[in-house]
Amino acid sequence: MPENIVIIGAGQAGQQAVQSLRSEGFKGAITMVGDEDYPPYQRPPLSKAYLLGSFERPRLFLKPDSFYAEAGCELLLSTSAKAIHRADRTVELTDGRLLAYDKLLLATGARVRKLKCPGADLPGIHYLKTIADVDGLQAVFQAGKRIAIVGGGYIGLEVAAVGAKRGLDVTVFEAMDRLMARAVSPQLSAFYAAEHEKAGVKLKLNTGVEGFEGGAKVERIKAGGQTYEADIVLVGIGVIPCQELAEAAGLACTDGIVVDQNARTSDPHIWSAGDCTRHTGREGQEIRLECVQNAIDQAKHAALSMTGKPKTYSEVPWFWSDQYDLKLQIAGLARPTDRLVQRGEPASRKFAVFHLRDGVVAAVEAVNAAPEYLVGKKMIAEGKRVAAETLADTAIPMKQMG
Ligand code: NAI
Repeated sequence: MPENIVIIGAGQAGQQAVQSLRSEGFKGAITMVGDEDYPPYQRPPLSKAYLLGSFERPRLFLKPDSFYAEAGCELLLSTSAKAIHRADRTVELTDGRLLAYDKLLLATGARVRKLKCPGADLPGIHYLKTIADVDGLQAVFQAGKRIAIVGGGYIGLEVAAVGAKRGLDVTVFEAMDRLMARAVSPQLSAFYAAEHEKAGVKLKLNTGVEGFEGGAKVERIKAGGQTYEADIVLVGIGVIPCQELAEAAGLACTDGIVVDQNARTSDPHIWSAGDCTRHTGREGQEIRLECVQNAIDQAKHAALSMTGKPKTYSEVPWFWSDQYDLKLQIAGLARPTDRLVQRGEPASRKFAVFHLRDGVVAAVEAVNAAPEYLVGKKMIAEGKRVAAETLADTAIPMKQMG
């Protein structure tokens, strides 16, 4: 009997799983359930070119509709899963239907963390995760408007850059003492702070939000003991893994659905991939990765395991961010104790910061510096040992180091 695979979550990981299951020769039925109204789409352009208006909606979709038909994947959109009944191997949908599975993939992703402070429910306070969110923001995202951005992370800063470019009056409120503290080195934070200020963005660091005020919609933000006028508020304060279904079904979850190196959960019939998971990284640490790379690679490994060809997942994580004309590319996972080596001058707007751990390249942050990123990523994968002086010497081309 051909097997039945059900995928919950129609995002990047879900789409990749469909593609990989077929390329690995899976012949049974595939059903993918997604609670959004759209087939799987790319989220990275949402806070960049799509918000700017230079990226048309059809280009967001990862595959044309014909892909799912040709792959024999039944796509149940605008549909939510309510429960997983592990003993019967069924998924119960909120509309009462039951989907039987032999193997199940949870690709439920993450959802935005919401602010909990007085006035946080006022109209005009936006979050950015979905096409619908951007369409809602787009309607009010007009030159001259004052936008208060809460959170100086990836979402907040990408929206700040687009806002500045489109002539909005932008203020960023960040609780920590530097920008993108979760993701980048202090050098990069300082560089990006200067770039945003050059573009006219006002930065309020060490500034927690106390609340919002307004009538029919938000009019003011209270932060750091002061009150600021605002026409629009955009909140980007991180995400929370969507693990409730897994948790209710009794699967191991610890800030993410716990999976092994084959993307398998604590139930041998259930796998999980993408932002919703927690796994043991290539350096042995427990991690939850919020990035396209993890969604793609973990889904590929889930498909390999589901088709009986398990392969250990140990890819180097990578990330990117576009702000103004600056392309930030990051590979590897940094630690605060790493030795930092700068290559190139920030003033040239083309430089990189390498993270050395015991003399080995552990991570690289590259700004408009593709060779540093590409060779750096390879060095990380190979555990390459290199002298700090050599890395810092721009007279030595990167390709000679790889
Ligand atoms: P984030 O974790 O990157 O940044 C959140 C920021 O908000 C942090 O700087 C944090 O210190 C700050 N913050 C938290 N609570 C706050 C508060 N109450 N007041 C003020 N600041 C506060 O999360 P972000 O930007 O929301 O992104 C969400 C997700 O989208 C992440 O998974 C991220 O990786 C992903 N993403 C990735 C992009 C990329 O790789 N280029 C681009 C956009 C989003």
